[in-house]
Amino acid sequence: MTSLWRDDAAPISTDSLDGVLAYDDIVVGAGLTGLTTALMLARAGRAVLVLEAKTVGAVATGNTTAKLSMLQGTQLSTLRRHHSRSVAQAYVDGNSEGQQWLLRYCAEHEVVVQRRDAVTYANGRTGIALARAELKALRAAGLAAEWVDDLDELPFETQGGVRLADQAQFDPMDVLAALARDLRAHGGVIHEGLRVTGVSAGSPCEVQTEFSTFQADRVVIATGSPILDRGLAFAKTTPKRSYCVAFEGVDPMPEAMYLAADPPSRSLRTAPRPDGTSLFIVGGAGHGVGRARSPRQHVDQLREWTAEHFSTAHETHWWSAQDYSPIDHLPLVGAMPRGGQKIFVATGFDKWGMTNAVAAALTLSATLLGGSMPWAARLARRKFDPLALAKGAQANAEVGSLMGAGQIGAQLRSATGIVPSEGQGQVGRGRGVKPTAVSTVDGTTCAVSALCSHLGGVVTWNDAEKSWDCPLHGSRFAPDGTVLEGPATAPLAPRA
Ligand code: FES
Repeated sequence: MTSLWRDDAAPISTDSLDGVLAYDDIVVGAGLTGLTTALMLARAGRAVLVLEAKTVGAVATGNTTAKLSMLQGTQLSTLRRHHSRSVAQAYVDGNSEGQQWLLRYCAEHEVVVQRRDAVTYANGRTGIALARAELKALRAAGLAAEWVDDLDELPFETQGGVRLADQAQFDPMDVLAALARDLRAHGGVIHEGLRVTGVSAGSPCEVQTEFSTFQADRVVIATGSPILDRGLAFAKTTPKRSYCVAFEGVDPMPEAMYLAADPPSRSLRTAPRPDGTSLFIVGGAGHGVGRARSPRQHVDQLREWTAEHFSTAHETHWWSAQDYSPIDHLPLVGAMPRGGQKIFVATGFDKWGMTNAVAAALTLSATLLGGSMPWAARLARRKFDPLALAKGAQANAEVGSLMGAGQIGAQLRSATGIVPSEGQGQVGRGRGVKPTAVSTVDGTTCAVSALCSHLGGVVTWNDAEKSWDCPLHGSRFAPDGTVLEGPATAPLAPRA
């Protein structure tokens, strides 16, 4: 399961470090946020190193639907219910500046972009109310949205929707390739395959990896979920997993970028190919990480829905993505608590990472270079609304009960001597009482600790991606325990 974007992307090779361990700034994570921030710092003359545990774009950016849109489902009306008009306007201003920056960048660097209308459509009455509320919020923020009764190019019934013209979509790996080239041209270094395991604030800061320790004046954590526990950022977001399936043979193919306001959640867009054909991407069917009984069935929901409405569609790719929804509906961007104004973070883009990543990069680079963005200052001054805090407390309580239930469940079943069938995994009591996760993938049976190396959540089996997923803060692990993503930096311990 490789995303359409990553499947045909030319590799962005790793740079040699040549024994240089000290830099002005180190950015952890080579997705859109990390590379854009690094480029902005390098353009200002800073010596910048980007450290990436996997490969450029391997986690969030390479698996997104890559819609660069100011109409973001029902995001703005949701945000407006929890924040003042001025905070909502600051979010719009920041995202708009991010969108315009990226459009200019793509134009200047010959990255192909398609301009498309964005539509949030209603399936039923609930959707009408949600989409109407979004229309109102968009107009109040100065965006020229309109209501459309008939969405003629969709082959299924809707109740109309809100449309914002002239938004954009692209191949996110094309953007990352351009950013990487540009960063290198400005002296930046991108090193792949090196996982950061810790950062100490100081003069200089120390960045620990599996093999060596680096030094930098300032450090930016641009991983999907922060790998550092300072400020408990991982507890202020909810990790969510969703799926995409790409199809050929859809004719006629809807041109606009669509997103449902109410269930079933579906995200639609085209993906023009260099040979003049287009693929059609259907996304959605999301769930909390580690909380679905069978993630594979979620992917199948997308396939079945597409077969029903686009009968000539033939699947070419499927993949998944992980997003982090902040409890107060606004991204967390800025200095980390107890980081001495030397460690910075960006997370919680709530599935709208294209505009928000660049807004975060503008915020962080301005801060590190001694400036500020007016909208970013307004967002930083926001007060957490009591409803959001209550929701966060409830989410944390759920996390606690999941932790307890997972532990008890694991201890009730024995995993000793169990060999799961191909593609399956099982958690139970190993030798002694230690929760053990056993799986069989490609004929190899592995037994690892079932306790997440982050804070001890009990992992669950993901039958779509053949991984162990933690329901608490979203860390994910390969069958042999290797870290795939999330706040965890250490593997699951092997079990005999
Ligand atoms: Fe935090 Fe697993 S991700 S306990």
